[in-house]
Amino acid sequence: MENKLSIGLFGFGVVGEGIYQVLLQKLSLNATIKKICIKHPEKKRNAPAELFTTDYNDILNDPLINVVIELIDDADEAFKIVSTAITKNKAVVSANKKMIAESFPQLLLLQAEFEQPFLYEAAVCGSIPIIRNLEEYYDNELLESICGIVNGSTNFILTKIFKEKIDYKIALAEAQSLGFAEWDPHLDVSGMDAANKLTILLLHGHGILTSPKNILHLGIENIHAEDAKYALGKRWQIKLTAQAKRLKNGKVAAFVLPQFVSKESQLYNVENEFNGVVLQSALSDKQFLYGKGAGRFPTASAVLSDISALRYQYKYEYRKHQQQDTGLETDFLLWVYVSCNSWADLDMEDFAWIDAIHTTEQRQYVTGGIRFKTLSNATWIRRQGVSLIVLPDGIIQEMNFDLLDKKFLSDPGCLVQGLV
Ligand SMILES: NC(=O)c1ccc[n+]([C@@H]2O[C@H](COP(=O)([O-])OP(=O)(O)OC[C@H]3O[C@@H](n4cnc5c(N)ncnc54)[C@H](OP(=O)(O)O)[C@@H]3O)[C@@H](O)[C@H]2O)c1
Repeated sequence: MENKLSIGLFGFGVVGEGIYQVLLQKLSLNATIKKICIKHPEKKRNAPAELFTTDYNDILNDPLINVVIELIDDADEAFKIVSTAITKNKAVVSANKKMIAESFPQLLLLQAEFEQPFLYEAAVCGSIPIIRNLEEYYDNELLESICGIVNGSTNFILTKIFKEKIDYKIALAEAQSLGFAEWDPHLDVSGMDAANKLTILLLHGHGILTSPKNILHLGIENIHAEDAKYALGKRWQIKLTAQAKRLKNGKVAAFVLPQFVSKESQLYNVENEFNGVVLQSALSDKQFLYGKGAGRFPTASAVLSDISALRYQYKYEYRKHQQQDTGLETDFLLWVYVSCNSWADLDMEDFAWIDAIHTTEQRQYVTGGIRFKTLSNATWIRRQGVSLIVLPDGIIQEMNFDLLDKKFLSDPGCLVQGLV
């Protein structure tokens, strides 16, 4: 890469304007923004008018621009911009986790063919340097698991539910009015945003190329005030965690689900809009990364770090994926808590075993084990009013499935009938 970085910037919103402002201060980087492409030319901008265009070609066809920074909020258009820029031999930086996670196969092929750097540290956990860390540092150390709070909006809402003992809908409305949740919060609260981020972490952490569609994810929409009470009684918190754990057979268990987190976990104290990731590896044991997962300058800091890395020709090499992609495992058990308004909302036959059933005036709940494969195919887990939360250390891999079947499943209905 040439020493001087001449940048074409797509997007001048929260992050785009942030990186523009930061680069004005960082003269030592020798990086200048030559053109900025936006969608709505009528908007007032805090930058000289001659910098702006609405024509992609003003950047993509400019031979003097050697770096494209893509910071728009439209995943389909972002893919067009990024893929065209790579084919035109430009280095690319992006923060668009949805586009990246959904288009990984094509993006890997393009990078291999055109040998251009494509960096996206800001796409996961904003300011936390997680991708390059997994790619480089944990390339040499055997990574066992990644467990993180990777979505700030949902963490903010869960913190409110706990601290103020309020229901999800009230907490969401407060988060929206304070700007910590989008007005259309679906991607965040459904767990989809976290599944996109986990797709990226899986590739860089465990070498697994998959699609977010293959990742079981539930969000926080059904978390009930009674669930928070249950957690408080056990001195736990509820967090939306994205997990990828290497099992004894070498394959990886991965999902995004609400989880009870005990005081012993570093994630317990990750509150409000903050993100945190616990990495467990063979030699170093547990390591914890914590910081702001979103916001103008925290996110711009990760984009800046990528721009800086371009100056020394840095590229992701996807070594783990090339050496061995073990794929995801679905043959394990999850130990879960499920609460509901009526037992009729659950399919009790799906449980491999049940260890507690409880009925209160407001709510009923059950704890027990479910095969992950069964859970992935279950429709009842998405029913309104059904709240499923993984118990701490809920991944169970050493069970004798045959024994379990005989011992607990001879007549699963009878466990419940007496109690409803
Ligand atoms: N915000 C965060 O804290 C954060 C954190 C991590 C990652 N990200 C990611 O960073 C990206 C940008 O997020 P943001 O929050 O900065 O978004 P934003 O504030 O909504 O800004 C989006 C920008 O994209 C421009 N745009 C949209 N479609 C376009 C198109 N087809 N051509 C040219 N420009 C277009 C918009 O133009 P106009 O100004 O003309 O409307 C606007 O300037 C997203 O992928 C997001 O997921 C954001």
